[in-house]
Amino acid sequence: MTIQWFPGHMAKARRQVQEKLKLIDVVIELTDARIPQSSRNPMVDEMVNNKPRLLLLNKSDMADDKVTSQWIKYYAEQGIQALPVNALKDKGKQEIIQACQELMKEKHEKLRAKGIIKPRAVRALILGIPNVGKSTLINRLASKNIAKTGDKPGVTKAQQWIKVGKQLELLDTPGILWPKFEDELVGYKLAVTGAIKDELLDFQDISVFTLRYLANYYPDKLIERYKLDEIPEDIVKLFDDIGTKRGCLMSGGLVDYDKTAEIILRDVRSNKLGHLSFERPNEK
Ligand code: G4P
Repeated sequence: MTIQWFPGHMAKARRQVQEKLKLIDVVIELTDARIPQSSRNPMVDEMVNNKPRLLLLNKSDMADDKVTSQWIKYYAEQGIQALPVNALKDKGKQEIIQACQELMKEKHEKLRAKGIIKPRAVRALILGIPNVGKSTLINRLASKNIAKTGDKPGVTKAQQWIKVGKQLELLDTPGILWPKFEDELVGYKLAVTGAIKDELLDFQDISVFTLRYLANYYPDKLIERYKLDEIPEDIVKLFDDIGTKRGCLMSGGLVDYDKTAEIILRDVRSNKLGHLSFERPNEK
């Protein structure tokens, strides 16, 4: 895959996130539940440093529930609290508020010890790679409670805080980081889930990865969707079988691989094969 990332853009994104980090108590890192590791930027660890962090596995409605549970456990073992969420629905809102409170408990207790009886609301930033659902989640949590601040003389940058209940305030603009995919496999996973613009992709290439992954972890779903008798070893034969079943034929009866690849990716992204995850903890 030929995708280029420009160091200038990266440095700017990093600076912008660092500016936002100064304003908040808790980082809410959003990832795609179907590929929780690949949809993170490893640099977050270093940037966030000691700030408490909540990891949200968004689009959990599209992911394989069993695998999502494995991820939650995996992160818990590393001392990272993770929650599955669906930004299109209210599911998870109370849990997010509660988790942010928990993460600030220690700090609040210190404030109480100092005699500050009523600590202010927890301030949080939603952070993640493009297309992971940051804006959707912010809008969902906002429910019109946008508090305007910062538009006074002498305050250079207008920052808006969104009130989520009484105890949580979110910065209205998310922190955006680029995904990291020097690793080809990470690039494929981001592509399958639609995190990379389609114009940049070689559909055949991505669908070969997708079919191999499905044949390995979800053979029954593959057989059911494309009414296959079995899954052949040879990936070209698998393409031929699916293309033939779906009527993707060119003149002369040859299978149109571009069209077949497009159908496979469209089906996967619209959950036609059911809920799928494309990454597992400790996967080789
Ligand atoms: P971003 O700010 O992080 O860039 O992401 P954004 O909120 O714009 O969301 C990207 C796409 O993901 C949107 O689809 C949005 O509806 C979808 N999305 C966000 N959260 C969820 C979720 O929990 N479940 C599901 N199923 N979808 C979610 P879109 O506008 O149709 O864009 P696209 O899919 O055509 O790129």
